[in-house]
Amino acid sequence: MSAAAGARSRWSCAGATQDSGSPSSTCRSSATSRRTRIAAASLADRTPFVAGDFFADRLPEGHDTVLLSNILHGWSEADARRILALCTDVLPADGTLIICESFVGNDKRGPAPAALMSLNMLVETWGRNYTAAEYTSWLREVGLRTERVLPLDGAPTTAALVARKVRP
Ligand SMILES: C[S@@+](CC[C@H](N)C(=O)[O-])C[C@H]1O[C@@H](n2cnc3c(N)ncnc32)[C@H](O)[C@@H]1O
Repeated sequence: MSAAAGARSRWSCAGATQDSGSPSSTCRSSATSRRTRIAAASLADRTPFVAGDFFADRLPEGHDTVLLSNILHGWSEADARRILALCTDVLPADGTLIICESFVGNDKRGPAPAALMSLNMLVETWGRNYTAAEYTSWLREVGLRTERVLPLDGAPTTAALVARKVRP
């Protein structure tokens, strides 16, 4: 367990409840906003919400893709790698894992918005913005191969890294 373990958030904006029994207003409004958007896109019938703590609860199985959207930047390298391993565990062979983040360039010299957000993460959390090369190397260790990194225009998300689970 890392030093951060005692202070870990137990929240998921998919609707988890806190030890006190009710979600924070930020998480609740965020989850509500997602439900509203999903309903507006007529996807509610195939988009269930499952509450849980990814460090304590096994992730849902039976899906061919896991999307980690702006999750990993909040965690130390050790915890980010642990989350990647937990996600890989529930993917079938050939399953896809997508990481949407604000990526720092592989030379770690920018771009400035990603670097500034990374500084913010270093101050406020145990994480930072990682590079595609770092993710690729961590993913390889848990049995996934990076296939592509697609640029995205959705601040703070700058790209989606798409990786495939390699058959054993
Ligand atoms: C920066 S938000 C990203 C939210 C959303 N995925 C997005 O892209 O806008 C980080 C999310 O991680 C969730 N989270 C933090 N710790 C968690 C844990 N231990 N298990 C599950 N979710 C967690 C928080 O509830 C929050 O929704």
